[in-house]
Amino acid sequence: MKLIVAVDNNWGIGKDGDLLLSIPEDMKFFRETTRGKVLVMGYNTLLSFPGGKPLPGRLNLVLNNEPGCRVKGAVVCESIEQLFRLLGNFDGGDVFVIGGGSIYRQLLPWCDTAYITKMRFDGDADTFIPNLDEAEEWSVVSESEMMEHDGVLFSFVTYRNSAPKPLAFRAVDGTLAQYFKKDMEPLPDGFGSEDAERFLSDGEPSLEAYLLRESYIKPQEV
Ligand SMILES: NC(=O)c1ccc[n+]([C@@H]2O[C@H](COP(=O)([O-])OP(=O)(O)OC[C@H]3O[C@@H](n4cnc5c(N)ncnc54)[C@H](OP(=O)(O)O)[C@@H]3O)[C@@H](O)[C@H]2O)c1
Repeated sequence: MKLIVAVDNNWGIGKDGDLLLSIPEDMKFFRETTRGKVLVMGYNTLLSFPGGKPLPGRLNLVLNNEPGCRVKGAVVCESIEQLFRLLGNFDGGDVFVIGGGSIYRQLLPWCDTAYITKMRFDGDADTFIPNLDEAEEWSVVSESEMMEHDGVLFSFVTYRNSAPKPLAFRAVDGTLAQYFKKDMEPLPDGFGSEDAERFLSDGEPSLEAYLLRESYIKPQEV
């Protein structure tokens, strides 16, 4: 499992529910890196997207613990424990933690790679992630050249975790990733945590097969 985030000088990531700065090259990097992948996010991060809608062309998993919460186009998980059970259907390399602060903090120990866009400015943030430069188990493996947007210098830095906590990924859902690569609008009625629980107790090993069988997605779209 990987994480992707843009940070300022203080490892600040957001303010007033929004990003500190929107850099077109960074948005492009995010789009290209996460296309067709499984995204894990908190409810506040979902609300920060245009129209509060899930990102197209990716499987959006949203953490929210309000009973009965449903999000059109997304799977809602009520706990980290339920999230981990659902993630068992995928390849760890396909799973990206995309924020915000509370989710990065909870899932950091399970991530093996972090794609950090380092923005050299002070964004006066109210939301932060841990400083990976001060974390013993994290080290830089690559860094892009320095770029500039609107007077702010930035670079793409990749960190690796030498001792990630293990997660039981089984990757039975290769074709589901294909489905989400097509930029379609899946799950029109959403897939709430109670639906996720039904799937998990059903014994069906593949989330895709379950979604097809229960008509959450249409066979011809796969
Ligand atoms: N710079 C970047 O790359 C980047 C990326 C993403 C987001 N951001 C920024 O980060 C900020 C949002 O971060 P945030 O920490 O406020 O919110 P968040 O992590 O996006 O979402 C928090 C929400 O998720 C729920 N939640 C958290 N853990 C849960 C769990 N284990 N089980 C069930 N539900 C859970 C919380 O419910 P409870 O409150 O009930 O626990 C809350 O509703 C925004 O400013 C956003 O723009 C920046």
